[in-house]
Amino acid sequence: MTRIAIDPVTRVGGHLRIEAEVTNGVVTDAWSSGTMFRGIELILRGRDARDAWLLAQRVCGTCTGVHALASVRAVEDAIGVTIPRNARLIRNILAGSQLVQDHVVSFYHRHALDWVDLPAGLSADPVATSAFARSVSERPLSNPSYFKNAQDRLARFIDSGQPGPFANGYWSHPAITLPPEASLMVLAHYLEALDLQRRTTRIGALLGGKNPHPQTFLVGGMALSPPWGGPKHSMAGEHPQQLERTPEALGARGLSDLGDLMTQLRTFVEQVYVPDVLAIAGHYVDWAGIGRGLGSYLSFGDLPEDDASQPALLLPSGRVVDADLTKVAMVDQAGIAETVAHSHYSYDGDDDALRPPAEGRTEPRYAGPKAPVISLEGSAKYSWLKAPRYQGQPMEVGPLARLLVGYAAGPGDARARVDGVVARLGIGPDALLSTLGRTVARAIEAQVVAGRLGGWIGDLTANLATGDLAIADVAAWDPATWPRAAQGWALGEGPRGAVGHWIRIVDGRIADYQIVDASTWNASPRDAKGGRGPLEEALVGTPVADPARPVEILRTVRSFDPCPACAVHLLGAGPGVRVDLRLLEGAVR
Ligand code: MG
Ligand code: NI
Repeated sequence: MTRIAIDPVTRVGGHLRIEAEVTNGVVTDAWSSGTMFRGIELILRGRDARDAWLLAQRVCGTCTGVHALASVRAVEDAIGVTIPRNARLIRNILAGSQLVQDHVVSFYHRHALDWVDLPAGLSADPVATSAFARSVSERPLSNPSYFKNAQDRLARFIDSGQPGPFANGYWSHPAITLPPEASLMVLAHYLEALDLQRRTTRIGALLGGKNPHPQTFLVGGMALSPPWGGPKHSMAGEHPQQLERTPEALGARGLSDLGDLMTQLRTFVEQVYVPDVLAIAGHYVDWAGIGRGLGSYLSFGDLPEDDASQPALLLPSGRVVDADLTKVAMVDQAGIAETVAHSHYSYDGDDDALRPPAEGRTEPRYAGPKAPVISLEGSAKYSWLKAPRYQGQPMEVGPLARLLVGYAAGPGDARARVDGVVARLGIGPDALLSTLGRTVARAIEAQVVAGRLGGWIGDLTANLATGDLAIADVAAWDPATWPRAAQGWALGEGPRGAVGHWIRIVDGRIADYQIVDASTWNASPRDAKGGRGPLEEALVGTPVADPARPVEILRTVRSFDPCPACAVHLLGAGPGVRVDLRLLEGAVR
């Protein structure tokens, strides 16, 4: 038996340590540890509740707007405010475009290097690569010179002596078997996805004022100026160069620019991201039998399609329990509770208790190893993540959870998409309960949401054209209109899965605040009953060819796209505490 520690896990959003026991080439047990305490929930206490979203989104530099949205919704729920249609559409466009961008980055810049071989890609024939790329996608750009240019750029980058993210990959690993042409194809798209990200973050700049960390949320709606003359308003009199840089987001130029950016995102997802993921999935189809995990999935649902109090949702709400894809169970906020039995927190001496977030608390109490951390073995408490449970059970969240909830709900778009993909890969729908399934589900979801973004721009343009310029319920801004004491919550979905914020407000100030992030669910430690978290469970059974280079473990970890920064919400190494950071793979020193 070998005990492997990967710390830090690179190419994830935050500080994550994974330990695994490997026996006869297979993971037999695993521990997921968030190694950083952030204290956002404590920082929020006592603040003006109107600022909650601005501070809460600082929980992360990747998920940003996800937490701004959940937070502003929690306040609106507490004080009983309904936002105008324009605000709903703007929020959907911001959240939806962030989700699509994030999925693209998740695949190319965090996950693809687990499947692709850089040396093979550098020696691939660009002509053969072009032929291969044209066999998987009808993209006009896929000519030999496109791939030759990308190969030359990569070679120059590697030869520069500062190869950055390509420095410490597990290249030429026996488990990385992708053909050279497929490797070069994905590596070329890796470079192009960087450029796409640079261009499409402008969506966040236009509608959010900046990216990351949008600045335009407001209790009651959005803080964007309505176009003075409606969407046909022209910006006559402004300096042309100024117009070029900063068109008014909701004017004709801004809406047209936003529409162009949505088209760029959608085109890349349809012509590049989805075909690449399916090509990789077709080659590594054995990974449909690895990383299965718990088989229980939770989605709060999000992206409201109408203004009803119980709106139709683009991302569905529900639970799939015990891998039963024939039915969907309901989600009730009251089913959610967190334990700190194995987390570095205290619950007044009853750390095994399951506390609902509305009564939750964040009292850090480090009880891990004090010597250099060689192993977490023997530490009852081993993570800064709490362990959220639904009716006492661990649940996987994220794109796969949403896709399976949609599939289990019956005939419809999700079922048709799943049926199409599994038929193409020659697997059954059950095989999506796997490492491969998480990666494929993320791509399918990106296509669904990217396909809807243009529609929301159209709906927004049409609604503004009717003369409805309301963007916020301005009365909601004044806490004098609020109840003296109020409690609320918001359950929604970010790229990584279900996100919940709970708030208690007294005299306009935040009395209590609790966040249960998607990665708190997925990367959670064990609970009081000893039950593993979803990621821990998924790692059991993963084959490991070479314990010194555990790329297979990282495949399953990154299939969740974990963000422990969000999940624990100061690296507090007190006197005598040393943190052992071994740069095992991909890290930049
Ligand atoms: Mg929390
Ligand atoms: Ni995050």
